[in-house]
Amino acid sequence: MLKLDNISVDLAGARVLRGVSATAHVASTVAVVGRNGVGKTTLLRTIMGLVKPKQGRVLFDDEDLLHRPAYHRAELGIGYAPEDRVIFPTLSVEENLRLPCEVQNFDTAEIDDRLSSVLVVVPQLKDMLGRSGAALSGGQGKMVALGRALMIGTRLVLLDEPFQGLAPALARQYGEALLRLRSVRPDLCVMITESNASLLMDIPNQTLTLERGAIEPSAIEAGATEAGAAGH
Ligand SMILES: Nc1ncnc2c1ncn2[C@@H]1O[C@H](COP(=O)(O)OP(=O)(O)OP(=O)(O)O)[C@@H](O)[C@H]1O
Ligand SMILES: [Mg+2]
Repeated sequence: MLKLDNISVDLAGARVLRGVSATAHVASTVAVVGRNGVGKTTLLRTIMGLVKPKQGRVLFDDEDLLHRPAYHRAELGIGYAPEDRVIFPTLSVEENLRLPCEVQNFDTAEIDDRLSSVLVVVPQLKDMLGRSGAALSGGQGKMVALGRALMIGTRLVLLDEPFQGLAPALARQYGEALLRLRSVRPDLCVMITESNASLLMDIPNQTLTLERGAIEPSAIEAGATEAGAAGH
């Protein structure tokens, strides 16, 4: 489904990603693990079309996304929760969730359906819908950011360090939401970055380790065979 082919990125004259290649299948959760500053956010931003790589391809269903404008990702069903959440403080939580679909001109019934499905995955959001985006704790903001990414991300969702800074109870709820996601949207592909792999518990099917801007050859592919068998 998503294939990264030999991606290299330079930022401010320094090489950040060096020939990164990886494949993420339908119905799988792929972790990208690496130390602070190794290039995890840069990799997700490259997939989202927010960083232009020096070389390489980002294939989604065999189409190179790098030839498409950034907003095309939403049309393809690719959602993104950046590490700095970006919840609009002047909007309510519900408005924050609906906004990306409204920008895509989805009709109200479609947006209502999507919101219902997101509330099944992240039920904690139900009681927060009327709350102002400015009144959220950091952890609640992460839950809203997940919900918002899922409103658009019907096929692929990119989550940048979602567990960073979450209190243990919220981290458990976040992990449970990701597990529920598998039954609510079985074909979804999820890519999660993290600097501390243990925070991801046993959620990923596949773990890619980024070291000095490149994928470590020892990257484990636990579960990749089943995901592959499910089609891609
Ligand atoms: N806009 C930028 N201009 C120049 N250098 C940048 C820019 N953004 C990131 N970098 C550098 O690129 C490298 C990779 O940054 P990136 O944010 O992708 O790492 P990361 O793995 O996400 O780190 P963290 O775990 O802290 O979130 C770092 O050395 C960073 O300083
Ligand atoms: Mg980062």
